[in-house]
Amino acid sequence: MSRTSDVLVIGGGIIGLVTAWRAAQRGLRTAVADPEPGGGAARVAAGMLAAVTELHYGEETLLGLNMASARRYPGFVAELEAATGLDVGFRTCGTLAVALDADDRAHLRELHALQRRCGLESEWLTGRECRRLEPLLAPGVRGGLRVDGDHQVDPRRLAAALVVACERAGVTLLRTRAERLRVEHDRAAGAALADGTEWAADQVVLAAGSHSGGLGGVPDEVLPPVRPVKGQVVRLTVPPAYAPFLSRTVRAVVRGSHVYLVPRENGELVVGATSEELGWDTTVTAGGVYELLRDAHELVPGITELPLAETGAGLRPGSPDNAPLLGPSALPGLCLATGHYRNGVLLTPVTGDVLAAYLTTGELPDEAAAFTPARFSSVSVGAS
Ligand code: GLY
Repeated sequence: MSRTSDVLVIGGGIIGLVTAWRAAQRGLRTAVADPEPGGGAARVAAGMLAAVTELHYGEETLLGLNMASARRYPGFVAELEAATGLDVGFRTCGTLAVALDADDRAHLRELHALQRRCGLESEWLTGRECRRLEPLLAPGVRGGLRVDGDHQVDPRRLAAALVVACERAGVTLLRTRAERLRVEHDRAAGAALADGTEWAADQVVLAAGSHSGGLGGVPDEVLPPVRPVKGQVVRLTVPPAYAPFLSRTVRAVVRGSHVYLVPRENGELVVGATSEELGWDTTVTAGGVYELLRDAHELVPGITELPLAETGAGLRPGSPDNAPLLGPSALPGLCLATGHYRNGVLLTPVTGDVLAAYLTTGELPDEAAAFTPARFSSVSVGAS
C-alpha cells in the first residue's frame, strides 16, 4: 500500500473525523492519524448544542458560526445516520436556564436582553412556570429562560458514527499517533508516525484538540495558541421507574460556576462541568464531583436518589478568544481545525463543511472568515 494521501488529518476526535469524512466525500484520498479514533474530549462531553444559552458578551461573531452549525444539525444527523445505520442520540428537547437567587436572576435577565438584541428566541419564565415545565426543579427557582432551539446529541455515539462513516467513505484510519509534522521545501508534507513509519500528504489538517499546540515539527510561529481546559462530569442513571426525570436540559450558574443536567432518552443524565486551568491534569477529584453534585442538587434535589454511573474528566481545547481556529496556517500545506473550546460538538457540522471546502478549492467559505489562524499572528497567511 502506498503510504500517501491527498490529506492527512492529525487527530481523530469528532473534529478530525468530520473533516476527514467530508474531505473523502469530496473525492480526496484522506487518512487520519490517531491511536484511538473516536476518542478525545467527546468521550466526556455532555453534547449540549447550546448556541443561545451559552452566549457570552463579546462573542457575537462566534454566535454566528454557532448558529450556522446548529441550523445544520438536523440534516447532518440525518445524513450521518443514513450513512452508518447508527443512532447518534440527537434530541430536539430544548433547554431551560434557571436562576436560584437574586444575583443569578439578574445575570439571567442580562443574558436574556443580550439574546433578544441578537435576535435569538428565548422566553422569560417565572419560577412557577419553570416548575410547571420541569416539576422536579427546586422550589426556590426564581425564574428562567426557555430556549426551545438549544438541543443535544450524544457525543460518544456521534464519534462512533463518524468512525464508521469515515471507514465507509474510504478514509484510512492510521491507528497510531502523529509524532512530528514533516516539512519539506517550506511546506507541510505529512507526518512521522509513532509506529516508526512516515506518511506523506499534499495537505495536513491539525485537529488534535487540546494537544494541537504541541505537535513536534510545527514552527513556533505556526503552532496554534491552544491550551487544555479541564472539565469534570458525572454520569447518573435515571431508572425507568423515575422517568421522565427531566424532559429537557436544565442549567444554571450557581455561585459563579456553570452546572447543567443533560437527560438522554436512554436514561443517562450527564451533570457537568467544572472548568479548570490545570494543564494536562485529568484527575477526577472529590472536590470536583462534590461541587457538581452540590450545585445540581440545589437545582434538582431528587438527583441524590439516582445511581451514580460514571465520573470523568476531559480537556477542552481553549483558544485566546474562545473561538476555533479554522483554515490555512502560515505554513503552506498545513491548515487548522482546533480551539473549539466549549463548542466542539456544536461546531462539528460547520467545521467539516468549511474545512472540506478549503481542502478542495483553496478558498475558505465566508462564514469561517473571522476564524482563520491569522487573527493570532502577524505573519501573512497564503492559500496552500
Ligand atoms: N459546553 C459545555 C462545556 O464546555 O462544559
